[in-house]
Amino acid sequence: MTQPKARHVPVLFEEALDFLRVRPTGTYVDCTLGLAGHAEGILRRLGPQGRLIGFDRDPEMLGLATARLVKAAAEMGSEAPHLVLIGEAFSRIGEHVEPASVDGLLADFGVSSLHFDEARRGFSFQADGPLDMRIDTRSGPTAEQVVNEMDEKELANLIYEYGEERRSRTVARAIVRGRPVTTTGQLARIVAQAVPPMKHIHGATKTFQALRIYINSELDEIRALFEAAPQLLKPSARLVVISFHSLEDRIAKDSIREGAQQGIWEILTRKPVTAGEEEVDRNPRSRSAKLRAAERQ
Ligand SMILES: C[S@@+](CC[C@H](N)C(=O)[O-])C[C@H]1O[C@@H](n2cnc3c(N)ncnc32)[C@H](O)[C@@H]1O
Repeated sequence: MTQPKARHVPVLFEEALDFLRVRPTGTYVDCTLGLAGHAEGILRRLGPQGRLIGFDRDPEMLGLATARLVKAAAEMGSEAPHLVLIGEAFSRIGEHVEPASVDGLLADFGVSSLHFDEARRGFSFQADGPLDMRIDTRSGPTAEQVVNEMDEKELANLIYEYGEERRSRTVARAIVRGRPVTTTGQLARIVAQAVPPMKHIHGATKTFQALRIYINSELDEIRALFEAAPQLLKPSARLVVISFHSLEDRIAKDSIREGAQQGIWEILTRKPVTAGEEEVDRNPRSRSAKLRAAERQ
């Protein structure tokens, strides 16, 4: 990922920064640096007393984010805030961030468009690459291991649970019959032959989403973040999260609502904030984005 083909355009950029309400002397955490679009926005609103802490569990993305943020900080000279960048999963945030020290925390879930653009990362069914799909390439099973080694029933359950694919048994049967499956192209063909597109959505969309969520424990990561966040934020600090599918958004919505009932959060977005027409035209990826924000009581 040394030469990104296309820049990842941050979604709901102004809205996220407005809800974070960045104060020049505050401490802000971007849990999902990606290409650091949001992070640079935060950085440039901070002053020399401020602090930006960033996480990305993908070493390549962390490298790209670091380069961008270091360059922006150099441009700011002596006005630049303190910068701390951490190559770990945001579920481990409690090991790196002091309790009650944070003024604003942002998480923009999922993977970036660069992950989809790079066939070799194995996220895209539109390009042919190895079946990897790990965000953190240093550990964990690859998609190839999962589709070739998991038993059919378990595979069907996984595709049903994380892909919300009602035709999951048919998909799992086709995958098992098609083994060994070694590339994204081969998997996409097997799945699309078993389940035709619905409402113009490629038949493999849900299966690829399911595998990605499972391989990267994405939903457990989000739950762990919501568990840790209340202890890390100062009173009146802000939490801003952006989700891209219903499974992520449901966890965000329920966690914030339960926290509000317990007096932890004041909800700032009764309904999720979504991208306007102009943003969707400019950046189709923003179509499914939902932003929720809350203030620590
Ligand atoms: C949607 S992108 C973020 C884009 C970013 N806001 C920007 O403006 O460029 C999500 C990023 O979070 C990272 N990521 C996903 N899950 C993570 C986790 N559990 N812990 C840390 N980083 C994670 C991915 O590697 C990816 O780079």
